[in-house]
Amino acid sequence: MRNQTRNVTEFILLGFAGTKRVELVLFTLFFISYVFALVGNFIIIALVWCERTLHSPMYMFIANLSFLETLYTTAVIPKMLVNFMSQRKSIAFHSCILQVYIYFSAGSSEFFLLAVMSFDRYLAICNPLRYTAIMTLRLCLLLIAASWMWGFFAVLPPTILVSQLPFCGPNSINHFFCDVDPILKLASSDVRKIEMINFVNSALLLLGSLLLTSVSYISIIGTVLRIPSAKGRQKAFSTCASHLIVVTLFYGSSIFIYVQPQKNHSLDLNKVASILNTVITPLLNPFIYSLRNKKVKEALRHLTRRKIFPLINC
Ligand SMILES: *[C@@H]1O[C@H](CO)[C@@H](O)[C@H](O)[C@H]1NC(C)=O
Repeated sequence: MRNQTRNVTEFILLGFAGTKRVELVLFTLFFISYVFALVGNFIIIALVWCERTLHSPMYMFIANLSFLETLYTTAVIPKMLVNFMSQRKSIAFHSCILQVYIYFSAGSSEFFLLAVMSFDRYLAICNPLRYTAIMTLRLCLLLIAASWMWGFFAVLPPTILVSQLPFCGPNSINHFFCDVDPILKLASSDVRKIEMINFVNSALLLLGSLLLTSVSYISIIGTVLRIPSAKGRQKAFSTCASHLIVVTLFYGSSIFIYVQPQKNHSLDLNKVASILNTVITPLLNPFIYSLRNKKVKEALRHLTRRKIFPLINC
């Protein structure tokens, strides 16, 4: 029955309706930021792998964050760039489902990991004497494994449900990648149950990790305020502020898109918010979380001096 009723073999990704010129400008912007994000994230992963000084829980979390970011941007951006440049902006049905799966599972793992990282910083800053006793290598591995498992298992059932829906009618997706809501709009059967599952999934994950992240940052700010020297306070604040900007952007845009039961704002607004998630935060994260960090800068200098940077020898 299901196989008979699905006669859509590909979707058309409408992208950003605009003239050729607009598309060329967007192509250039997105291409450049994608390359920068890739390079930034690769540098971080390479540094954490190669440098002994960075073999600690915080940097393992950061390297995993970079890896997840590379994964989900790569699921979305290259295809979007190709479509900017081609007449037929199509994507095969199965690639579309795969894109949904990778985007949402890597994204979910990333939110889980952001909460873990804020908890790690909370321990290190507010509870420094007990930090090494609590955040052991074992706990670190466990938390990382949990974040990967959460993302890749929780997203599987709804993705399978979506892949089995009947699609018979129009196949144009008003988006630049296969986001789940525009796809559900095209299904020719009742999708309220799947929408409900997705809503509960995203709400639990996003609001849960947002809660943990906010509590951690609020405690951190409380501790920072008690630092006696003005200079130390200022430095701690500038780090905190940049983290908060990224976290706010990421949570803000994702909650805006995915945590709304009625789905009543327009898909065009969702598209703009998705740009924040897929283009802007992956670009900012490496610079804000690590490349400004003193220890990371030293490791970078060290590696470039030894000239073994092309990974091979480390
Ligand atoms: C993610 O964390 C695990 C466990 O700490 C580590 O072995 C792995 O290398 C990390 N992944 C990346 C890409 O660094």
